[in-house]
Amino acid sequence: MARILLYTGKGGVGKTSIAAATALLCADRGLRTIVLSTDIAHSLADAFEVPLGPEPTQIAPNLDGQEPDVYYNIARYWRTIQSYVSELFAWRGLDEVMAEEMTVLPGMDELGNLLWIADHVNAGTYDVIVVDAAPTGETLRLLSLPDASRWWIERIAPIGRRVSRLGRPMLERILGIPIPRDEVFAAAERLLDRLADVHRLLSDPDQTSVRITLALDKLSVAEARRSFTYFHLFGYPSDLVIANRVLPAGAGPYFAELRKAQQGYLPIVEQEFGPVPVRTVPQFDHEMVGVDRLREIGTALFGDGDPTAVHYRGEPYRVNREDGMYVLQVELPFTERGELQLSRRSDELVLQVGGWRRTLLLPRALVDAPTKGAKMDDGTLRIQFEAPARGKSRAGQRGGRR
Ligand SMILES: Nc1ncnc2c1ncn2[C@@H]1O[C@H](COP(=O)(O)OP(=O)(O)O)[C@@H](O)[C@H]1O
Ligand SMILES: [Mg+2]
Repeated sequence: MARILLYTGKGGVGKTSIAAATALLCADRGLRTIVLSTDIAHSLADAFEVPLGPEPTQIAPNLDGQEPDVYYNIARYWRTIQSYVSELFAWRGLDEVMAEEMTVLPGMDELGNLLWIADHVNAGTYDVIVVDAAPTGETLRLLSLPDASRWWIERIAPIGRRVSRLGRPMLERILGIPIPRDEVFAAAERLLDRLADVHRLLSDPDQTSVRITLALDKLSVAEARRSFTYFHLFGYPSDLVIANRVLPAGAGPYFAELRKAQQGYLPIVEQEFGPVPVRTVPQFDHEMVGVDRLREIGTALFGDGDPTAVHYRGEPYRVNREDGMYVLQVELPFTERGELQLSRRSDELVLQVGGWRRTLLLPRALVDAPTKGAKMDDGTLRIQFEAPARGKSRAGQRGGRR
């Protein structure tokens, strides 16, 4: 079973470098490894200083790299669907080039890149698949969509099939739009199956670890917390947080203030992401490109340790719907209810025990929901929220922050 290590984090924090370094370390230790960029803004080739393309290319012994391309993915995965969509757009009067362009829907290019993960797992060519993913968890959230789209396909597709038997030309004349052909429905179903495969692979804690890279600064920590919320909400197992570019003690007086700020964020990061472990990688004093430099990053991060190990297993928190209420469960071992203080501030929930504090970013559905009560139950804090009416919650989600 191939291990999947997926790195995400705000742009510029060093995701690509860390992913590349991890992959290199795996390959050095004899594991057949591929590092796959699913970020639209590929930079793996630059990090390794080698040309890469849409198919795997060898970088070093045991190590391949790949930067998929959206048009290549379309040809591979959804040519049939795309030709229907462009037929539809062309019918609306868009010229062909424009119609072709329009069919690259937002998120589709990145989803297409993620589909490669399932291809590599199925082919069995690699022991480790390292993914240099996009900055936020947004696309992983999209990946949870197949459940919803499947519902649609199951209900619409049979109608479509019946329609095509009844006489498509007549219906098209009456409705005035092109009706999708059987093969379009079949292709859509195949695509949804593949997306569901990737979702299943990425949400399996034995197979996948999602790792968050951040810098010790305000914006990067804030974004990492948002991704962390998503990952837990959508069941993606995260096992490691990496604080990159940490200024060392000998950084000199010019960086003294910046180093002090970073050192101030470190314990906060450890508290807020705990029990998921936090590791640091120093800010190096030279440009970190090419195999030798990337290897230095890998060694700083893992030393002699195993980069493919599962560094943490568990769900620090989770939201369930029970008896018409939402229940937020937080693992808080060694805590009594009496010592715990709870407070809410717009979309944040602050848990405080003595000098220890954790801020959870509430999922959108809970932002406007009144708290009903909280209790400790066998090392787990359970907070009940009144569930807003279905329609209202959806409107709230749309207007909510992203
Ligand atoms: N620990 C580090 N020390 C010094 N430079 C680093 C370190 N980590 C990353 N860099 C450099 O920072 C820049 C951004 O890194 P990159 O990995 O491309 O970030 P991301 O993929 O998150 O956008 C690159 O020039 C990279 O070489
Ligand atoms: Mg990058």
